[in-house]
Amino acid sequence: MNKDPAKDFGPIADDYVFFMNHATEALHDAQAHCRCLAPVLPAAGAVRWLDFGCSEGNFTTRLLELLDWPPQQLRLSLIEPVDARRREAVVQLARFTTEPIPAAAGLPEEPLDEYDVVLSNHVFYYVPELLGTLRRLTAALSAQGVLRAAIAGRDNVLIQIWATGFGLIGRDIPYYTAEDVQAALADLGVPFEQESVPYRIAFPDTEENRLRIIRFLLANHLTEIPLPPLLVLFDPYASGGAIEIETASDHFTVRGS
Ligand SMILES: C[S@@+](CC[C@H](N)C(=O)[O-])C[C@H]1O[C@@H](n2cnc3c(N)ncnc32)[C@H](O)[C@@H]1O
Repeated sequence: MNKDPAKDFGPIADDYVFFMNHATEALHDAQAHCRCLAPVLPAAGAVRWLDFGCSEGNFTTRLLELLDWPPQQLRLSLIEPVDARRREAVVQLARFTTEPIPAAAGLPEEPLDEYDVVLSNHVFYYVPELLGTLRRLTAALSAQGVLRAAIAGRDNVLIQIWATGFGLIGRDIPYYTAEDVQAALADLGVPFEQESVPYRIAFPDTEENRLRIIRFLLANHLTEIPLPPLLVLFDPYASGGAIEIETASDHFTVRGS
């Protein structure tokens, strides 16, 4: 796997928010995770939950609102490399648990604790050691535990913008995609389920809005990539002054054993 997947979400925070506000991705992801995670709650006792790449906690807030679990039963731990986002997440998620929320910039050196839920929602694209990270996260699952990971594959329209953008400078996509997660889990010999979860992106068709999605996708790499061939990639989705894209992400489920 010849990748250079690190991506700093700090400088593109506003563009990421624009994407999130104009896509049904988070809603559909949360509904699918909720269906799978609801049975994890025991009649009594705690659910230990690791949120890997939680950003400011907006997505997990949405998911925990759907799950509606008693705060006395939830133990949350957070991993998020952007300091400001991690601090916001601790504050935002406090109401879902009666316990303090440990939060760190990355996984610890020492062996991970055991978790009943490991959530990684659209994070594995950017993880430097995908195979090693998946090995550690899947090994951390309790016997009744469930890992849920969302990540788009090469059939996703935004991943195709990555492919075109990096192709313009003679590179393959430096980030991981669903195909890499599938291959890594197979390499690890970990049984998994995979499903496609559709969603829609829709926004007023202005050059600035097209640019917001492009900046969210290509971030610091935009200094090297010409903009005009990227801007026209939205043309097939333009209609009546709006951009409307129907696409999908993949969801992976790994169960503890
Ligand atoms: C697309 S956002 C997804 C955020 C959140 N999970 C959601 O669904 O809204 C990707 C997140 O992964 C974080 N991230 C990037 N590299 C990471 C890494 N190596 N380990 C953990 N998180 C990482 C980013 O800072 C960012 O918050």
